[in-house]
Amino acid sequence: MTRQLFVTTALPYANAPFHLGHIMEYIQADIWVRHQRMSGSEVHFVGADDAHGAPIMIAAEKAGITPQQFVAQIAAGRKQYLDGFHIEFDNWHSTDGIENHELSQDIYRKLKAAGFITSKTIEQFYDPVKKMFLPDRYIKGECPKCAAKDQYGDSCEVCSAVYSPTDLIKPYSVLTGATPVMKSSEHFFFKLSDQKCVDFLRTWALQDDRLQSEVANKCKEWLEGDGGLGDWDISRDAPYFGIEIPDQPGKYFYVWLDAPVGYLASLKNYFAKTGRDFDAFMADPMTEQIHFIGKDITYFHTLFWPAMLKFSGYKIPDNVYAHGFVTVSGEKMSKSRGTGISPLRYLDIGMNPEWLRYYFAAKLNAKVEDLDMNPEDFVARVNADLIGKYVNIASRAAGFITKRFDGRLGAADPEAHDLMQTTFAAVAEVKEFYEAREYSKALRRIMEVADHANQYVAQKAPWLIAKDPAREEELHRVCTTALGLFKILSVMLAPVLPQLTKAVASWLNCPIASWDDALVALEENHQIGEYQHLMQRVDIKIFDQLFDSPVPGSVSEAVAAPVTTTAPAPALTTPAATATNAAAIEELAPEITIDDFSRIDLRIARIVNCEQVEGSTKLLRLTLDVGEGRTRNVFSGIKSAYQPEQLIGKFTVMVANLAPRKMKFGISEGMVLAASAEDEKANPGLYILEAWPGAQPGMRVR
Ligand code: 2FM
Ligand code: ZN
Repeated sequence: MTRQLFVTTALPYANAPFHLGHIMEYIQADIWVRHQRMSGSEVHFVGADDAHGAPIMIAAEKAGITPQQFVAQIAAGRKQYLDGFHIEFDNWHSTDGIENHELSQDIYRKLKAAGFITSKTIEQFYDPVKKMFLPDRYIKGECPKCAAKDQYGDSCEVCSAVYSPTDLIKPYSVLTGATPVMKSSEHFFFKLSDQKCVDFLRTWALQDDRLQSEVANKCKEWLEGDGGLGDWDISRDAPYFGIEIPDQPGKYFYVWLDAPVGYLASLKNYFAKTGRDFDAFMADPMTEQIHFIGKDITYFHTLFWPAMLKFSGYKIPDNVYAHGFVTVSGEKMSKSRGTGISPLRYLDIGMNPEWLRYYFAAKLNAKVEDLDMNPEDFVARVNADLIGKYVNIASRAAGFITKRFDGRLGAADPEAHDLMQTTFAAVAEVKEFYEAREYSKALRRIMEVADHANQYVAQKAPWLIAKDPAREEELHRVCTTALGLFKILSVMLAPVLPQLTKAVASWLNCPIASWDDALVALEENHQIGEYQHLMQRVDIKIFDQLFDSPVPGSVSEAVAAPVTTTAPAPALTTPAATATNAAAIEELAPEITIDDFSRIDLRIARIVNCEQVEGSTKLLRLTLDVGEGRTRNVFSGIKSAYQPEQLIGKFTVMVANLAPRKMKFGISEGMVLAASAEDEKANPGLYILEAWPGAQPGMRVR
């Protein structure tokens, strides 16, 4: 019976590029999906950006663009990661898509009709300047226990005290610095405390091996713990970037209400594009709905989400599989400690994406355990196992087949009969391991087979047989058998190494696309292609380039440690915050690649002359020597900061390949760089860059 699977990974917030934790989750799910496809299942694998919520709205405002433009920019950057690591989603959508608006509102209406929505008036901190209710993380103040300044509204980072925002001494809004006031507003709640809900969740969570045992136990605690489940506040007041609550002007769904609905929305969007019937698929009892998530968001996926679906009459999830976080050499990833790893940097410096897929797979199991990545271990697994054991078999046998037998295979070696039988048995076991998400066990079993294959080759020693012209046929049999084993190993590795095994399929001139392909022997006389080396070894030195250099006194500690986190608040610069908090700087722009950067041609320029521009209150006219044998005319808005004579003779940095711009006072042929605070009114000052002695006009800055 063909399985019909709908598979998702957690939807990442659309306010930052992917980090290694996202990539790990996608690789985990992608391997499972590929295994399913190899088994003949029909799989629909979708993702989307989680677009809504206050942090994204505020970040967009700071960037001076609409939230829609902001999330579109982030979305545009997703493909290079997904393609780069061979992660093959069928569709990538956004929770701000029309499908999500409609589905979320429909779910809400149905919950309401079924009596699961209630409302009550609650009091909350409100920023009177910004005119918005403040989420806890946008309120800071002095800790009520130890009086430490600038502590968040829920807990103190200095003494670890836990409290509510109203306990803070001298609270202030992180957004404006204003003192928040208490204000009441009507909120809508999903009645999770309803006995029907509790009964349903108990059955759902604890039966049918739906959840990993540790997750099921956690659910039990949540369901049976002190006071049981409370009702869930699902509304937020305008201004909010989200989906409007039907018939409640000015009220929006809390982002966590519409985020998981985004799974359905992405599938619906995909089905519309491919002409399939979404409603029929979701109504089909054969459809299995499976979510891969990080351990930090199990609460949402094992309580709120199934209950929402159940009581609105939608299909309920079949399985939720949680994984742990990625750590690096035993620590949380952190820029300041030099243990942050950017997935794009990994690709940019030429590290092979399949090394990482193999490494993650070699360490992943079905438990909710953290996965530690460390360079020595990485190098050992890739070089010793993947290349030393697997690739090695091909390279030892291929040359003889090409050179001695014109690329044609011979008969199988009857002496390898038992070895072939145990290898076939291993295929069935490996398949089961993938099915159970026990990838580390799968790879261990595959490497055992590779060990046996290598022992066979070592024992037969084709390089010795090759010396004796009378043993030509034996040589043919041994190399053919080795390649036969290599093909089976390749089928078993295909979910993890899609690119490499595609190259193998083309070289061996046979399909490596389904589990059944492992059982099809390569026939006598089968023609194969010329062997090309399949994979390079890793050089441990490359890790020096991979890790972020430690940043002394770095602004942000843990960057990208959790696989999925609650939306990080942007680093906000406010009068109140800057006075006391040295960490508040302008938020970093979205990540770019080294290629993006290299398109900007920065050069050392000597300021040959500098003069006032008549009629302009802002500009100075600079004459720059960039070593081109002519000078350039550049207007720069630095009049407020410098007298012209201060600048003449200085060496600075300019963008030399900026398209010339026609301005009121003439043509500007480039731009000089200057530092400034984000809020120039609150923190005036412009500082042009000056090069160290020795730099010459025309030198490139890179
Ligand atoms: O924690 C996070 O990153 C959330 N954006 C995950 C949402 S998963 C789903 F509900 F959309
Ligand atoms: Zn404290």
